Amino acid sequence: MNEILLRAPATIANFGPGFDVFALALAAPFDRFRIRRTDAAGVAVRIVDGFETLPTEPDRNTAGLAALHFFKTTGVPGGAEIEIHKAMPIASGLGSSAASAVAAAFGLDRLFGTRLAAADLIEIASQGEAASGGAAHADNVSASYLGGFVIVRNRHPLRIDRLEPPDIPIVVRVRRKSLTTSRGLIPDHLPLDRVKEQMAWCAAVVHAMAAGDLARIGEAINRDHISEPVRSSYIAGYAALKTRALEAGALGLNVSGGGSSVFAICPPDKLEAVAAVMRSTLETDAGGAPLVIVTKSSNQGVREIHGL
Ligand code: HSE
Repeated sequence: MNEILLRAPATIANFGPGFDVFALALAAPFDRFRIRRTDAAGVAVRIVDGFETLPTEPDRNTAGLAALHFFKTTGVPGGAEIEIHKAMPIASGLGSSAASAVAAAFGLDRLFGTRLAAADLIEIASQGEAASGGAAHADNVSASYLGGFVIVRNRHPLRIDRLEPPDIPIVVRVRRKSLTTSRGLIPDHLPLDRVKEQMAWCAAVVHAMAAGDLARIGEAINRDHISEPVRSSYIAGYAALKTRALEAGALGLNVSGGGSSVFAICPPDKLEAVAAVMRSTLETDAGGAPLVIVTKSSNQGVREIHGL
């Protein structure tokens, strides 16, 4: 096999209180990829469909960097051409860079027959993610690889627990972040009373996910002492949006991953009302109409497809 076509889903990392630990895969949006193996060494990346401003130098592109790590880790001879068909918004906290890194690791493993374990391929993908965030965190890549709800239980060595919740209806208000990454602004320490609350909130997310209880999932993702206070400070009107979305029937709302997109968990019959709030409340990103995506969780991660 010399070529493989793939799709890899967007993901919501942190998922409320689970900073660098939780992530959920989405049914949409997703990106598609064509990956070819070459006899000659070296990695080439091409981006099609309107995001040609993304870097394509392999060591500055998440798919390219993941591919370089794949060849370094496995020692297999050869190289790769990676074509990325982007549909998901970039730099918005929806795991776009993670999906590219995952597709590269997954695709090259198939093309070169290396049959690495999922945890090893996720580790390779997380090294690729460092091209965008500067830190090799594993939440987005784990969810994009495996689908479902993931818990990064241990980072080195990588240990992931995974749950398959029933469909969770979600509204996403896409918003690009104003900084490449605001991770560095998150304080290193929390007072003990906040640590206790954060532990309780994380436990509540896992319990609600295991129970498949939509109302409790919404309630549990609505609070966070670590990422939300920092990331929401870059989202003008965030507090008002949260209040209005909850009044419109959302069960919980928080910042998606590193921001600045915002996601809300909704009962199915409230999706449209919450989407309307999301469309009307936040200011429009420079030069673009507000993008609101009505979607749901997905237990399907990266996978081969048979046409682009
Ligand atoms: N856990 C990461 C962060 C996700 O919050 O920085 C980045 O999308």
